[in-house]
Amino acid sequence: MSKTVGIGITGSIAAYKIADLVSKLKKDGVDVIVIMTEAATRFISPLTFKTLTGREVLTDLWQESPEWKVQHIGIAEQLDALVIAPATANFIAKMAHGIADDLLSTIVLANTSPILVVPAMNNNMYKNFIVQDNIKKLIRYGYKFMDPTSGLLACGTSGQGRLPEVDDIHAQITKLLFPQKDLLGKRLMVNAGTTCEDIDPVRFIANRATGKMGYRIAEEAVSRGADVILVSGNSTIEPPSGVKFETAWSADEMCQVMLKYQPACDIIIGAAAVGDFQITGVAGQKLKKVANRSDKLVLEFVGTPDILQELGKRKAKNQIIVGFAAETENIIENAKLKLEKKNLDFIVANDVTMEGAGFATDTNIVTIITRNGEVQSLPKMSKEDVAAALLDKVVDLLKI
Ligand code: C5P
Repeated sequence: MSKTVGIGITGSIAAYKIADLVSKLKKDGVDVIVIMTEAATRFISPLTFKTLTGREVLTDLWQESPEWKVQHIGIAEQLDALVIAPATANFIAKMAHGIADDLLSTIVLANTSPILVVPAMNNNMYKNFIVQDNIKKLIRYGYKFMDPTSGLLACGTSGQGRLPEVDDIHAQITKLLFPQKDLLGKRLMVNAGTTCEDIDPVRFIANRATGKMGYRIAEEAVSRGADVILVSGNSTIEPPSGVKFETAWSADEMCQVMLKYQPACDIIIGAAAVGDFQITGVAGQKLKKVANRSDKLVLEFVGTPDILQELGKRKAKNQIIVGFAAETENIIENAKLKLEKKNLDFIVANDVTMEGAGFATDTNIVTIITRNGEVQSLPKMSKEDVAAALLDKVVDLLKI
């Protein structure tokens, strides 16, 4: 059945890139309704989109339409998905506060189909607490967001604020319009972020992991129909909507939480950067400064539980367990050893020294190694795409 998508364009220079997106969607046979804010029409002419879609472009709340009786309601009812791209800080703020003062914002409120928001703006505007709060609020309401990419911006500065590649936006829209539900009925648990080990009541040691990889896996698994438990160490990312969210501070705590849920899970994925050491005898009071800079403060460490290994020991028949291996050398060999030791079905290995791989990046370069020795090297891809590739592999294993 043919699908209808609303493309809402707001006032950013990136608006011109949407012509390419609309053209790709039309080639897929998707019916595209373009709605532009007044500001968007200053960047690109509605005529461009009228020509590409073969439909009147909608810009005016008061425009009379022969097709829809009450225009904004009529349009909203037709949509299988609504995409706001590029989304300006102003338009995101309007959505977050339920303001409906033009055709597009009115359609957003009347819409009941999935919404994908693709921000593009100056990097400082994007980082602004108000904008970030608005985004977090909308994610809590179930809106999907794509992260802007980093690079040179139209305003001359460099940073995170660029519209993601049109191909990536196209792939996300395709997922919304034609959702794969190949994990329906499966319970999946994934851990994410860094664990933290206390030194004293105010200090702790952790690592650079942001949690992004694990959160993306959780989000992708929800969209494929799985019942998802996200066990998160320290992370500032807003949990995706639809997951059961559990937090854990230390490796010990995370291990307890995961062991509790393990028997009910079909699939377990260890994407957290679990700390390997914990301090013996955490100080009860805040440690005092050393008297002189050359004085030594000695801390003593012991190991933490290897969570995946513990889960691997208790692995039920038909339960799938997947791990990650961040390596700096002999990637495949080291990853294979971990796969065996932790009793995993497959391991996702990456060389964290490569640019575009590992912690705190939006992309990753991974190799999937299975128990039967199959080695699949993937090109540099977004963490969303890595999550999708990894879950494709899980689905393959479920069929065996
Ligand atoms: O042994 P290594 O830390 O390289 O293994 C990485 C994999 O093992 C990751 O999937 C990570 O989540 C998991 N891990 C764990 N508990 C630890 C250390 C790592 O579950 N203590």
